[in-house]
Amino acid sequence: MFAVHLLAFYFTKLKEDQIKKVDRFLYHMRLSDDVLLDVMTRFQAEMVKGLERDAHPTAAVKMLPTFVRSIPDGSENGDFLALDLGGSKFRVLKVKVSEGGKQNVQMESQFYPTPKEITHGNGTELFDYVADCLADFMETKNIKHKKFPLGFTFSFPCIQTKLDEGVLLSWTKYFKVRGVQETDVISSLCHALRKHKDVDVDVLALVNDTVGTMMTCGYDDQRCEVGVIIGTGTNACYMEEMSNIDLVEGDEGRMCINTEWGAFGDDGSLDDLRTEFDREIDLGSINPGKQLFEKMISGLYLGELVRLILLKMAKKGLLFSGKISTALRTKGKVETKHVAAMEKRKEGLQNTKEILMELGLTPSEEDCIAVQHVCTIVSFRSANLCAAALAAILTRLRENKKLIRLRTTVGMDGTLYKTHPQYPKRLHKVVRRLVPNCDVRFLLSESGSGKGAAMVTAVACRLVSQRKQIDEILASFELSEKNLIDVKNKMSEELEYGLKKETHATATVKMLPTYVCGTPDGTEKGKFLALDLGGTNFRVLLVKIRSGRRKSVRMYNKIFAIPLEIMQGTGEELFDHIVQCIADFLEYMGIKGARLPLGFTFSFPCRQASIDKGALVEWTKGFKATDCEGEDVVDMLREAIKRRNEFDLDIVAVVNDTVGTMMTCGYEDPNCEIGFIAGTGSNVCYMEEMKNIEIVEGTEGKMCINTEWGGFGDNGCIDSIRTKYDKEVDEGSLNPGKQRYEKMTSGMYLGEIVRQILIDLTKHGLLFRGRMSESLRTRGIFETKFLSHIESDRLALLQVRRILQQLGLDSTCDDSIIVKEVCGAVSKRAAQLCGAGLAAIVEKKRKNRNLEHLKITVGVDGTLYKLHPHFSGILRETVKEMAPQCDVTFMLSEDGSGKGAALITAVAKRLHNVGEN
Ligand code: BG6
Ligand code: BG6
Ligand code: GLC
Ligand code: GLC
Repeated sequence: MFAVHLLAFYFTKLKEDQIKKVDRFLYHMRLSDDVLLDVMTRFQAEMVKGLERDAHPTAAVKMLPTFVRSIPDGSENGDFLALDLGGSKFRVLKVKVSEGGKQNVQMESQFYPTPKEITHGNGTELFDYVADCLADFMETKNIKHKKFPLGFTFSFPCIQTKLDEGVLLSWTKYFKVRGVQETDVISSLCHALRKHKDVDVDVLALVNDTVGTMMTCGYDDQRCEVGVIIGTGTNACYMEEMSNIDLVEGDEGRMCINTEWGAFGDDGSLDDLRTEFDREIDLGSINPGKQLFEKMISGLYLGELVRLILLKMAKKGLLFSGKISTALRTKGKVETKHVAAMEKRKEGLQNTKEILMELGLTPSEEDCIAVQHVCTIVSFRSANLCAAALAAILTRLRENKKLIRLRTTVGMDGTLYKTHPQYPKRLHKVVRRLVPNCDVRFLLSESGSGKGAAMVTAVACRLVSQRKQIDEILASFELSEKNLIDVKNKMSEELEYGLKKETHATATVKMLPTYVCGTPDGTEKGKFLALDLGGTNFRVLLVKIRSGRRKSVRMYNKIFAIPLEIMQGTGEELFDHIVQCIADFLEYMGIKGARLPLGFTFSFPCRQASIDKGALVEWTKGFKATDCEGEDVVDMLREAIKRRNEFDLDIVAVVNDTVGTMMTCGYEDPNCEIGFIAGTGSNVCYMEEMKNIEIVEGTEGKMCINTEWGGFGDNGCIDSIRTKYDKEVDEGSLNPGKQRYEKMTSGMYLGEIVRQILIDLTKHGLLFRGRMSESLRTRGIFETKFLSHIESDRLALLQVRRILQQLGLDSTCDDSIIVKEVCGAVSKRAAQLCGAGLAAIVEKKRKNRNLEHLKITVGVDGTLYKLHPHFSGILRETVKEMAPQCDVTFMLSEDGSGKGAALITAVAKRLHNVGEN
């Protein structure tokens, strides 16, 4: 009995001595909790650095955005292929994910070797090999005839700007393939795949193995938001708040970040913890100076670390009685699997003995105990370091969520973690000690990253199909050159119909004579009142014109609101309101008694028999006052003044806004013979030869024609380019069937077209998460200025989103991108259509004058033209293309049409006076 005790005592003592000896020797590798907390703090700082725009380029820990934005939600389904390259084994998989109530994943897979010729060859060989393996797999599974989406797990650091792209930063672990670094591995893979005519796959996603692991585990546990690999290499990814990721635009939701924590310490920040053995490992590796944290932790290096330590101890006579074998001197002879075997609880000592003997050593009992302890220290350090970095991530997650306690799941994979007998327990224990306020579940990824890659691919697949639908919708707004030429030619025809006596009455482009027979010549003078009604603003103006050498125009104006109920009330109410505004203005200017001549800019189609007579043909845009159509608006204004019986005015001219604009610009540039409005409505006027205007007597000189081109297409002649959205907008308007061209080109309707498209996209679940909001159903929420604002190039996505939110549309950043695209498609088409129309006008003028080449100025006004960032550019471009023989200058009317109206009034007044005398 005593002998047994003595023996036990002897063994314990023996063990203690050995352990103490090793502990002393490896003092530096035993990390206290204080040190680990310090490492954790350092890693927290590294993460911040990697995420920040300015610090990122020099950050050691790269914190790479992965463009994976969510963990699986169970709605994933379909058949996918996956490649899993970069861990200890290369695998090709087929994954079948079915949704249908209960989640179900079926996987078939095959491992393929990665010989040194491949891992150390050149890029073409590598990707050809990968493609060959995939083809072989598809052949064996008899699935070559089918098209598959594919997810590529590629376990190396890649810079991604989207899911299906990845530029390799650098090789790590045991790969060193020439000509791949700094290139996109997805395009290389696709290139190699194209050589297989019978393989039809869509490579949709590149995922790091950590991401694959997180997604694999996330499929079973929705709480999983971290993925960790402790295998050949080591790394972690986690879900970060978008608002913290400077490198990716947008602040909506979260995105998975591949930390590439293996590179922690590459800037020297862990030098105080690295030992001579770590330095030696690094120097002997294929990437010296790189992945220093990984080299203290992962499976590729642990065995070698143990070997180097044993060698040094033997050299110092601390082991094997100082005897050293050739194998012990040989790099790579101790592997991580040996370390794991030696640390087994029961048979560990026996394993140690056998392994050492295989190394050509003759270990004593003491040696075996000591060697086993070396293994423990090395692998424990590995687990400790991982725990510290993971604790940093968990803390970050908790702080991001502003929680006191975090409950979360970490997906785990990697051979070291999976096969080392003590590793998981140690890691879990230390993590829980370092972050006591986190309840962590460690979930082993049983099936590898392939399943997760399929999940990511499933989401990508859905996005691709959604993108296709969006593209199809927007394509209906694209106009080919042929379309545009067609529009130009038809417009030319319609202009002729409007001018001809027999067809004038039924023409859709009305070609209304304006009785304005010349542009200003600088002799105009006097003091005038002007009204400007029908655009965004209603204005009353006082215009003072001086002629001669000190020629000048001075204007005073006031904007008045016209409430909707007046715009759409009775004619009497409308004109009473106008007169009320005039009265207010006269009062405001202190000229109540003065009987001034007045020019009335009235921006609607009027049939004129003289300059001061204009019968409203029909309301357009947002006006619909009763009892006005067919009536003379000058008479209506006179009567309203009479009704008020407070002042008298001499209404001398009624002028369309296009004409006012042409005159305003013509005052500065005599070559201005066209007036164009791209605003609430759309219209053009131009100087036509009298001989061409069959409905007006006389053949001498010219007269301005108000084309009222907004009605172009009302006979169906451009229906082939109208979309269903145009039709919806038309049907919801005040004048269905009328002004079809205007409804495709002007500010009042563009926003409505956009709204109809957004409604459609939402209905199809392509926008606003399929949720239709009250705002979206509200007519007129998108004003012209909204389009202009959203399409501004200077505007960040975030601001676009804010605008949408102000409109009551709860949009994500992706939504904002789509909305911007929709606006772009609609406004581009508008500018092109106007360009084609204008080309018809300038061409007509060129032909009228029998010129080879025409030089002409177009006076322009309107909020769409003035505010929209791209409208005017596209318009000009189109005119140039459609009318190459015309050199068109666009001149913006800075002063509005009031000035032009006053100029017309001045001339009319003079002629009138001459006539009277
Ligand atoms: C596998 C995953 O299970 O683990 C791979 O499917 C991953 O994607 C690998 O790279 C990591 O472990 P190891 O030990 O093979 O490097
Ligand atoms: C103004 C003119 O500048 O532009 C108006 O003075 C014209 O006469 C208007 O109707 C057109 O633009 P919008 O965008 O206000 O309809
Ligand atoms: C290396 C790679 C990294 C990978 C890890 C685990 O650290 O750089 O991308 O996740 O190994 O395989
Ligand atoms: C509408 C009107 C037209 C006006 C244009 C621009 O098309 O019918 O007269 O010129 O809008 O305001």
